[in-house]
Amino acid sequence: MDTRILGEAQVAEAAALLRSGALVAFPTETVYGLGADATNDAAVRGIYEAKGRPSDNPLIVHFGSLEAARAVVEVAEDSAAWRLARAFWPGPLTLVLPQRTATPISRAASAGLPTLGVRVPGNELARRLIDTAGVPIAAPSANRSGKPSPTCAAHVADDLRGRVAAILEGEVSEVGVESTIVDGTQSPLVVLRPGGVTLAQLRAVVGDDGVVPCAPSPPETDGSPDLAPRAPGMKYVHYAPEAPVYFFDGPTSDCTAFITKLRDARPAASIALLTSLDPSDVAACGADSVVRCGHYERADTIARELYACLRQFDCEGAVGAIVCYGFPTEGVGEAVLNRLQKAAQKL
Ligand code: TXA
Ligand code: MG
Repeated sequence: MDTRILGEAQVAEAAALLRSGALVAFPTETVYGLGADATNDAAVRGIYEAKGRPSDNPLIVHFGSLEAARAVVEVAEDSAAWRLARAFWPGPLTLVLPQRTATPISRAASAGLPTLGVRVPGNELARRLIDTAGVPIAAPSANRSGKPSPTCAAHVADDLRGRVAAILEGEVSEVGVESTIVDGTQSPLVVLRPGGVTLAQLRAVVGDDGVVPCAPSPPETDGSPDLAPRAPGMKYVHYAPEAPVYFFDGPTSDCTAFITKLRDARPAASIALLTSLDPSDVAACGADSVVRCGHYERADTIARELYACLRQFDCEGAVGAIVCYGFPTEGVGEAVLNRLQKAAQKL
């Protein structure tokens, strides 16, 4: 299949392809999505195939407006979940809500679950595409399963060229990490995946008791299928470049010891340090190279650059291991740490 690269002026063509059942990748403010007409069963199943995605991992369905999203899910106007929708849509928030009984949405989109993840994206081009197509769009991140998410059209082309009909090229994704997923079927609400909207921002709307973070699964049971994780996708390997990723937290001197230990474990590997700190502050750690991702004091800059940095390691080839060190926990830093920890393995 020839993958067409379409520009902003070709939204109508992208929309027509979607309506015909084809797959079209498109920009959102979080990451690029791999879209299909959410009401077309065969098209939605095509997403799983193109991505190499396990079929038990449901997709988020994207709508052009709050009203359109509300037509397919059960949610009370005055509920905490809907207050979040009003506060953050269009924007980087996904709500998991019970599906209405009769909807045109393909069962494959929700992987058979009775709930549906819904979102109104903040990116204007994305909403124009949805409005022009006239159907909701089911879309996971437009990467091959397991890889870091794409934040520009070139990343999508690297992963999916030949597997999708078109890529609608827009701006680089300004948030850089995926949407925050909130389970609206529970009280208090539960954050299933931290993302572009921070916990503090959610709490400013529904109160401190109105929403809680998802309890992390203990390592020995993480990924166990019988535990049925609430955001099913989180049980799979994620966001990982080719080279093994390690995550270290602690004083700089201990990071030096960590890298020494890593050298013993992987004697021939060239070790790269990925950090949001000033490279001169980590020079003593003894890595072979240092890659800076954003600035420690500005978590938004780290989120925006994260996936491009992780993907860059795949282009350089020579990197044998990546140590992530020096990342803040504040604000959207929580989402960044979540992604790094999902990408990382134990030493
Ligand atoms: O920012 C984003 O959310 C991007 C853009 C394209 O919108 N999309 C995205 O999709 O990150 P994806 O498929 O890469 O991640 C969606 C996550 C998966 O972990 C999936 O398990 C979870 O959402 N999810 C979807 N529907 C769900 C549901 N009904 N219940 C629980 N989790 C759900
Ligand atoms: Mg994804």
